[in-house]
Amino acid sequence: MSPDTIPVLDVRGLSLEFPVFGGAVRALNGVSLRVMPGEIVGIVGESGSGKSVTAMAALRLLPPGGYRVTAGSLHLGGDDVLAASEPVVRRWRGRRAAMIFQEPMTALNPTQRIGEQMVGVLRVHRRISRRDALTQAESLLRDMMIPDPAQVLRAYPFELSGGMRQRVMVAMAFSCDPDLLIADEPTTALDVTVQRQVLQLLRHHARERGTAILFITHDMAVVSQLCDRVYVMYAGTVVEQGPTGQVLREPRHPYTRGLLDGLPEGAPPGSALAAIPGQVPDMRHPPSGCPFFDRCAYADETCRQRPALLPLDVAAEASDAGQDRRRLACWHPLSPAQADAAGGSV
Ligand SMILES: Nc1ncnc2c1ncn2[C@@H]1O[C@H](COP(=O)(O)OP(=O)(O)OP(=O)(O)O)[C@@H](O)[C@H]1O
Ligand SMILES: [Mg+2]
Repeated sequence: MSPDTIPVLDVRGLSLEFPVFGGAVRALNGVSLRVMPGEIVGIVGESGSGKSVTAMAALRLLPPGGYRVTAGSLHLGGDDVLAASEPVVRRWRGRRAAMIFQEPMTALNPTQRIGEQMVGVLRVHRRISRRDALTQAESLLRDMMIPDPAQVLRAYPFELSGGMRQRVMVAMAFSCDPDLLIADEPTTALDVTVQRQVLQLLRHHARERGTAILFITHDMAVVSQLCDRVYVMYAGTVVEQGPTGQVLREPRHPYTRGLLDGLPEGAPPGSALAAIPGQVPDMRHPPSGCPFFDRCAYADETCRQRPALLPLDVAAEASDAGQDRRRLACWHPLSPAQADAAGGSV
């Protein structure tokens, strides 16, 4: 297999739970998700749907001993993440996959100047001198359109604005030239203008370097701007997936349509998801049937059985580009005409 055909991230049937007093939170229930080299893939879904847990599991960043994988597998660049030793996984972090979080203050060391932190990251993976690392750090910051990189290198994190800190994080994430960048709501805390700039930078540099991105967000407008493909998650499962344009223009799952409904015409990034009436299920007692049952206008007795995530077009699934195809887990998919009524706004 050529390197281009090995997914940078391949999650298959992953089920994962957190033991809690008197039971377990079943955070993921059979999640499958693939990112190919250079692709920009989104995960969208309401709070608690399992987006962050999926991302953290990919880099084995969940609290050791605090969770159990009950089924499935997880590979980075073809290598088994769940079976690898801790030192090996540590080497993969930053290189195979780097992560950017919503709040850079939690990822940056408050007591160290930006320059020191960047030099530290650059020298973990490469044998270069401090001076060379500092030069590289400066050039990475310049790539992020930071006007005075030398000054930022001398600054402490608290001296920078939120937008500037996030640019520093993006620069650091790119610094080890990762195959995959996992960005978990990286722009949610920023105002709309800064958010747009950071997204453009991310997209531009990812495309230029051939870096794949797994982009986690609540925000359908961001997905439409940034992502080639999207996975829609609900209650620890993928309920719909496919090329972004198709899924957003023509959502076939009532949940996806619910997420898109009410998003104003030409909504800018940062627009909140429309609230769908009802609540996400209690994941200590996940429903055995369709997880969206209680909130779905189309639910009937059939939906007490869990629907499988199946290709919309079975013939196309047999082709090589299987992961690009639309899939849907629903007994009563919206017809294209019903779906169209929702998708026109994005
Ligand atoms: N350490 C933990 N212990 C127990 N439960 C957890 C833990 N981490 C996450 N969970 C639970 O796992 C489920 C999925 O959480 P996750 O953080 O992945 O949601 P999310 O989709 O990222 O939501 P948000 O949009 O709010 O970030 C939730 O029910 C959450 O409460
Ligand atoms: Mg999250």
